Amino acid sequence: MCGIIGYTGSSQALPVLVQGIRLLSYRGYDSAGVSIWNDGSLRIRKDQGRIEDLAPRWNPDELAGTAGIGHTRWATHGVPNMPNAHPQHDAGEQVAVVHNGILENDLALRERLEGEGVVFASDTDTEVFAHLFARSFEGDAVAAARSLLETCHGAFALAIQHASLPSTLVAVRRGSPLLIGLGVRENLVASDLRPLVGRADAVIELGEDQIALVTPDSVRLFGADGGEVEYATRPIDHSERDIGKDGYPHFMLKEIHEQPDRIYELIASRVDAERGAVRLDDVGITDDQWRRFERVDLIGCGTAFHACLYGAYVLESIAGIPARAVMAHEYEARAPRLNDRVLAIALSQSGETMDTKIAAQAAIDGGAHTLGVLNVRQSVIGRAVHGVLDIHAGPEVAVASTKVYTQMLCALLLLALRASQARGGDGRHLQELAPALKRLPDDVRAVLGRFDGVREAARDVRRAGDMLFLGRGYDAGTALEGALKMKEISYIHAEGYPAGEMKHGPIALVSREMPTVAIATEGPTRDRMIGNVREVRARDGEILLVATDGDVDAEKLADFVLWVPSVHPLIAPVVNVVPLQLLAYETARLRGCDVDQPRNLAKTVTVQ
Ligand code: G6P
Repeated sequence: MCGIIGYTGSSQALPVLVQGIRLLSYRGYDSAGVSIWNDGSLRIRKDQGRIEDLAPRWNPDELAGTAGIGHTRWATHGVPNMPNAHPQHDAGEQVAVVHNGILENDLALRERLEGEGVVFASDTDTEVFAHLFARSFEGDAVAAARSLLETCHGAFALAIQHASLPSTLVAVRRGSPLLIGLGVRENLVASDLRPLVGRADAVIELGEDQIALVTPDSVRLFGADGGEVEYATRPIDHSERDIGKDGYPHFMLKEIHEQPDRIYELIASRVDAERGAVRLDDVGITDDQWRRFERVDLIGCGTAFHACLYGAYVLESIAGIPARAVMAHEYEARAPRLNDRVLAIALSQSGETMDTKIAAQAAIDGGAHTLGVLNVRQSVIGRAVHGVLDIHAGPEVAVASTKVYTQMLCALLLLALRASQARGGDGRHLQELAPALKRLPDDVRAVLGRFDGVREAARDVRRAGDMLFLGRGYDAGTALEGALKMKEISYIHAEGYPAGEMKHGPIALVSREMPTVAIATEGPTRDRMIGNVREVRARDGEILLVATDGDVDAEKLADFVLWVPSVHPLIAPVVNVVPLQLLAYETARLRGCDVDQPRNLAKTVTVQ
């Protein structure tokens, strides 16, 4: 995941690009760079590091110019260093390219270009675009961009500059998002709205396989066939300008809705379907280390702990490594047996949670290999552990965590697939899951589109004093997370249980006054879950059922059904938690609670 910014207008480009890179840094920040047109040539400055440290080294006189592109990087192909930073360029520096996404057939294209005499200067897939564009450009930027769309597979948003086009930016989109911001005698290109607010009055969202030619006073759009296409502009409204909620009434609802895009970017940048591989090079665990690990300890608190529960299931069942989830504050007390054959994974949104930090330090001191699964790489935990898997959920403002949770689940699944690969697994899981992962953002989007059904259920449960959440197997953690969301923001007392535990106690609580939310989607645990639902029904309990589309038998047992699309059972927890997030949100809203800042809680807990 990376951030793209482009500017063409009457002001100096450098400060606009630097500010844009700053605002996009949540997408990745291991390197940054700019290219600025100046007197017939492209002046490129780029390096490893954060924009705060790099920008003061860039001389504004040398980088004078009113058109340029910039980039902030999150390494996928090749380590973070100067050659791999963007913009990437051809040998003659006639073309500069910034890229977000992944070029799937880069190996084949690289080989072909090398056969034609091209010498590559970086390990990136992006450099391929620069050479291809340079070689096919004969004065017509749209034709050169079309040839990229024909030749290249994968997901990519590109902003391109050519030395012979003084004030023109070329934008190309397939998969990854790309916006064009329309200002006064200036136009911009960006990965998201943030760097456009304040400069642009309106935006154009580039469509799939579209090409744009952007100059200070014109924007022209072309389809993949070269034909010019009409476009619609959307004004940037006040709520987007002022408070960063993108028009949503609460940060929590905005963050719930960000999930499909965040998941898409994480998966697209990590799953290499062509090679049948998961790329986690930056995590820094070698195949040999993966083979030597005898146990994985997953540690975290709150929502992060619920992600640990899922992680332990997938690491054990997919990669065959014994794995356990431990609440971070309970870790030291167990006096865990540690050595370099133990992998300790600390999960944390903030990377600052004191309990998790102390547990991670105990693992480091005990000689374990440590990995942070974090949303903030430059954090206390991020700096302490041996390696970081950055989940790139973007800033999460609402105290109740939503997009970070689903992002952690996806990251852990990828980690389990990678571990299985390294430990000589037959690749069956990835083969089976690759198409399901590809569809996952759309499946989550489908659930978001069913908010009306959730609203109806929320109108009912808003008066409840207590609630029970049940799930089994991979969804045992989903039940706990659903209950946590409900209690955190609506203040309804809610308990989450693995459903098999029901008959050992919680069933004593069942009554008409206590709604039970049961996750009974298709898969190996569905029938046993339905058995538990019958037990609740038999005691006159009210049932809210999370069920798979078309499950009419399940529907008959429920007072309310929260429908979800049919998905692979291993990734169902990512989809199944979404109606529970919406249910907690809507219930809290109806009860007049402060959704984003619930009482007594803090987003980052830096005390023990
Ligand atoms: C607090 C927050 C929770 C969060 C937990 C762990 O309790 O209120 O939402 O899950 O901390 O935070 P972390 O930043 O380590 O993920």
